[in-house]
Amino acid sequence: MRRKLVVGNWKMHGSHPANAELLAGVLAGRPYTLDVAVCVPFPYLSETAVTLASSDLRWGAQDVSAHEQGAYTGEVSAAMLAEFGCRYAIVGHSERRAYHGETDQQVADKARAALNKGITPIVCVGETLAEREAGHTAEVVKRQLSAVIHTLTHCVGEIVVAYEPVWAIGTGRTASPAQAQEVHALLRAQLQAATAHAGDMRLLYGGSVKPDNAAELFSQPDIDGGLIGGASLKAADFIAICRAG
Ligand code: PGA
Repeated sequence: MRRKLVVGNWKMHGSHPANAELLAGVLAGRPYTLDVAVCVPFPYLSETAVTLASSDLRWGAQDVSAHEQGAYTGEVSAAMLAEFGCRYAIVGHSERRAYHGETDQQVADKARAALNKGITPIVCVGETLAEREAGHTAEVVKRQLSAVIHTLTHCVGEIVVAYEPVWAIGTGRTASPAQAQEVHALLRAQLQAATAHAGDMRLLYGGSVKPDNAAELFSQPDIDGGLIGGASLKAADFIAICRAG
């Protein structure tokens, strides 16, 4: 039985006072019957770690370097994230693929760097609207996941996968539960061919998840929770989503 997971992706939002209020709100919403985590901007990892340390909430980063250490100005290593107690690191978010030109192989290398330091990568895959309309959804997500499978080999069972159709992110346009389930089932089948642990792996859906659509999405057989952007910035909405599992 897979335990559901809801992860807030704060993206580039926050400030000391706003974070304190948001985290206090999310803490006040406990207990949750599913696993809950927040992925915050790097500078806020320290305060998040302090605030959540004695709770069952987890935290993580939104990216990680593929490199272990060295002359990589601006990058943050997995070892550094581990020092701040990160449980998770999002890798391959479509915003990073689009604005930073991250390739499937770079995303896979980042996932490996995270796993090597005991951090669970949340690997994002998803098609653009043009790709969906051209009938290429399956091909695109399978290609993105396949780079990760080939790089991690038998360790791939340790990752979390997030299916995030690009056309649903921040647009208010959610994939229907059936559309999302169809892709999740494809991804699960692909993982099943690669690892005996595919049945235990958590596959999250992301893209305009809101309190009013979370329960139906999370009730799909292969959807094990969500990666939540905009709605993770409002404690009441995030709590409602965390209770939808
Ligand atoms: P959204 O973002 O919930 O605001 O659509 C999800 C994500 O990008 O992870």
